[in-house]
Amino acid sequence: MQQQESPTILATYDPYATLSLRVAEAIKEQLKLAPGSRLGLPTGRTPIECYRILSQWSKNGQLDWSKVKAFGLDEYYDVDESATFLRFLENNLYCSTNLPAGSRYNPLFCDNYDEVIANAGGLDLTILGIGTNGHIAFNEPGTPLDSWTHSIWLTESTKQANSEFFQGTIPEHAATMGIQTILGSRKIILMASGEKKRKILQAALRGPVTPQVPASFLQSHKNLLVMTDFDF
Ligand code: GLP
Repeated sequence: MQQQESPTILATYDPYATLSLRVAEAIKEQLKLAPGSRLGLPTGRTPIECYRILSQWSKNGQLDWSKVKAFGLDEYYDVDESATFLRFLENNLYCSTNLPAGSRYNPLFCDNYDEVIANAGGLDLTILGIGTNGHIAFNEPGTPLDSWTHSIWLTESTKQANSEFFQGTIPEHAATMGIQTILGSRKIILMASGEKKRKILQAALRGPVTPQVPASFLQSHKNLLVMTDFDF
């Protein structure tokens, strides 16, 4: 018997909660339309509330992840397992779902990531955040348009932005989906939360397309939805 759908409670005056609910609804809709969807999933602060909502719906039996394949966007080298992005996704989302353990992919722990994605049928929906220097996933300024999954040395600004998650040494080496990997997704939702992202979002969407602002490559995508919790 279908479990009673409990109401999703949120502070509707809270723009971040509303943004998170809208993105969660888009993912829910995707899974209903295509139960075997291949999803590209971000980490960082922005998607946390969206993942909380998805976790709640999953625990209530409102979402079925059994045929989904989830692809993390990026991953650190040389960090404790507890600090990996895979652990972040496990703790914030996967643990509340029936997503099979073998369907939780990660660019560091999976050789030939782009081939695995292609063999799975390509990405159906990729959710992105944006770094204040214009990075998407861990594609830092200077990343060429023609880039696939690769390893990267993180910029000082990115290391600084993520430093709160690390007590000792801040990791500087990571693996990331490339620009081509991301642009190959049939649908993309770019989430930006907080006034601190306004300037870079302006540059990314209304400025020139340039490797110096990797998010600007998204301008060419035919099915990009940008969702913010500030007027834009
Ligand atoms: C991190 C991640 C990105 C994320 C971005 C913004 O470094 N590699 O996937 O989108 O930086 O993070 P936040 O949402 O915390 O601002």
